[in-house]
Amino acid sequence: MMNTPSAERADELDARAREILTQNDRGGYTVPTKGLYPFQWNWDSALVALGFATFDTERAWTEIETLFKAQWDDGMVPHIVFWQDDAGYFPGHDQWGSETSPPTSGITQPPVAATIVRALFERDPDVARAANLVEKLARWHVWFARARDPQGRGLVAITHPWESGRDNLPDWDAPLSYVDTSRVGDYQRRDTQHVHADQRPLKAEYDKYMALVQFGREAKWDIDTIAQGNPFWVADIGVNAILLRAERDLAALAAAVGETDIAESARVRAARMEAGIEALWSEELNGYVSLDLRHDAKATTLSAGTLLALYGGVGAGRAEQLTATLARWAERVTYLVPSYDPEESRFDPIRYWRGPVWAVVNWMIASGLADAGKGDLAEVVRRDTGRLIAKSGFYESFDPLTGAGCGGGDFSWTAAMWLAWASPNMPGAHEEG
Ligand code: GLC
Repeated sequence: MMNTPSAERADELDARAREILTQNDRGGYTVPTKGLYPFQWNWDSALVALGFATFDTERAWTEIETLFKAQWDDGMVPHIVFWQDDAGYFPGHDQWGSETSPPTSGITQPPVAATIVRALFERDPDVARAANLVEKLARWHVWFARARDPQGRGLVAITHPWESGRDNLPDWDAPLSYVDTSRVGDYQRRDTQHVHADQRPLKAEYDKYMALVQFGREAKWDIDTIAQGNPFWVADIGVNAILLRAERDLAALAAAVGETDIAESARVRAARMEAGIEALWSEELNGYVSLDLRHDAKATTLSAGTLLALYGGVGAGRAEQLTATLARWAERVTYLVPSYDPEESRFDPIRYWRGPVWAVVNWMIASGLADAGKGDLAEVVRRDTGRLIAKSGFYESFDPLTGAGCGGGDFSWTAAMWLAWASPNMPGAHEEG
């Protein structure tokens, strides 16, 4: 068993985590990491706010308020906000053609923000501030229902793997195989200048990503054109679980600030999703999986998304089956939770979302485990996260076999998860047993 960091080491790491957030602060928003991701990212910012909240509540609120300044008129909250130019990233704002001010990407990301705002409000009950965000969060959630679930089946679609936040997951291989890349042309990637190519997606995948950007741009990001014709239209278990939890948190938050209509409509959407998500259960695999809605085909393997179902509070009565999966994986890896099933041939411990561990996903899975009455397992996931960070530093992700850091370094949301959850100095953190 590897040790958790000593108190002294934990203090050092706390200080370093605060320093990373401060260094990545560009004034009102934080970049995920210098170089590789030089703009504001949607779910990164939401999660980073939890880290700021441990030492600067004001700054935590601002992070989310800045993100919502980029909300589109139709309610969508973009996955990237290009507050300033940076030629070191591709695809830049010209590729997206959003025609908004500030320029943004044309797609969204996992809607974790309502959950985080609720947590901020519990820490700092600033009613005016929360009410202002409640209205914006509600518009985003309504957009999800209208734009991504036009038939009202209680499942929202993603239109690009990047909307899942788990970009290179093997779940997307089959749905992407239908995407025509013949008109993509030449382009120059920038990611592989910052990080070793072994840890990044392949060129064939990047071509698909660019073809989808092209489709949306040519459709002028019109909701109906995309719903009818976007070549990638997939119900991700991760995004659906995150949205379901966010709807419940929005309902609670809205009620707390006196927005009863918003609370009621969030409850209605949550109930619809609770029923809808059951379509993602796979009897064969004993777990929730993603579903390609265009081709009516379920993913054939499990991933960390399967366990995010617990975070969404779904699968009551299925917690045993889900935790059995986690127990099986624990036999295969040194550190939980691998982003993809380590028993599968497509598992790769260092390639982007095909195996590595992400601290933010671990936090969500642990929250779900704790809610499902599996506090001991939640604690294992928390400790593994702390050990990874103590061993290798604040990396973007970690090899679940060796614990080595992967992707970018000095990563904001890894620092935030340390401060808000994984650090042994966190109030409420359990003592090593
Ligand atoms: C990668 C991740 C995505 C994250 C972004 C910035 O694209 O897949 O989830 O938001 O990096 O950290």
